[in-house]
Amino acid sequence: MAIVKATDSAIRAAAELLRAGQLVAFPTETVYGLGGDASNGRAVAAIFATKGRPKFNPLIVHVSDVADAQAHGRMTPLAKRLADAFWPGPLTLVLERQPGSTLSDLVSAGLDTVALRVPDHPVARALLKSTQRPLAAPSANRSGCVSPTQAEHVAADLGAQIALILDGGATAHGLESTVLDARGEAPVLLRPGAVTAETIEAVLGAPLKRRPIESARPSAPGQLESHYATRAHLRLDAADVKPGEALLAFGPHVPTTQGPAINLSPGGDLMEAAANLFAALRALDKTGAETIAVMPIPAVGLGEAINDRLRRAAAPRA
Ligand code: TXA
Ligand code: MG
Repeated sequence: MAIVKATDSAIRAAAELLRAGQLVAFPTETVYGLGGDASNGRAVAAIFATKGRPKFNPLIVHVSDVADAQAHGRMTPLAKRLADAFWPGPLTLVLERQPGSTLSDLVSAGLDTVALRVPDHPVARALLKSTQRPLAAPSANRSGCVSPTQAEHVAADLGAQIALILDGGATAHGLESTVLDARGEAPVLLRPGAVTAETIEAVLGAPLKRRPIESARPSAPGQLESHYATRAHLRLDAADVKPGEALLAFGPHVPTTQGPAINLSPGGDLMEAAANLFAALRALDKTGAETIAVMPIPAVGLGEAINDRLRRAAAPRA
């Protein structure tokens, strides 16, 4: 299995593979991405095939800076403000596609928009610089499953199918980027993520609109109901642990259990809980428990994104 420590020479080798149309998994500050040259239709098609991703679910394109973003998406005044405040970082902006953009149409999955972000991870940044191409990179997991926050997670899900996995250690945020529609005058939150709604509202001085998740054809199809699915069933807002259940705990006051248990943050810290969430779900799933009892997580700050992922993980499967 080709997990390689993300040294300078490994990053250069990865850039060569990407320029040749191959796929490389790499760390970002949120989760690991399955990267391909976004201007190469065959590479983008290979991303969909490797993940088993439905073709109507568009991909995020990663670029080095605002100038590169501008080549592919129409930066509205709102988008400029948000980019100034949050890039590089875990915020994705949905913009109108720039007419001259070199991006493959496939990344947009038939929409006239494109989702762009400038990542803030030294490996992702070095890779973008070395490749000199926009990189399409969805989370490097099988479609519908739990996102990877460690190189080993990528290897477990997709290892046999990708040329190279760059190992940059565990990711810092552990949750995907926040996705905002920034085409108009007021931003619309499409996916809660690593930048909290409160932080964005503080910068803009106005409350964020949220697009209802139940729309017929979701604008962020990550909003599809079942997602982040574990093999085990999830029981949310659990106050106790039933026989045979595993426990995903949060905070200092934990129900007693003889079974497997992981505490996302004994001190009740939401940043720590977010960083641990996906690895904990994977580990508890591996214990073979039929059900994972999940303690309530406060719905403020990063709790909004954590609860969003847990709700989808608990949703009925298609
Ligand atoms: O943190 C992240 O965003 C990670 C890292 C690797 O950058 N990437 C990620 O990609 O989470 P993915 O493909 O798993 O999720 C992308 C989300 C999906 O919900 C997708 O539907 C939405 O962004 N999206 C992409 N392009 C869009 C567009 N043009 N309009 C609306 N939503 C879009
Ligand atoms: Mg994903």
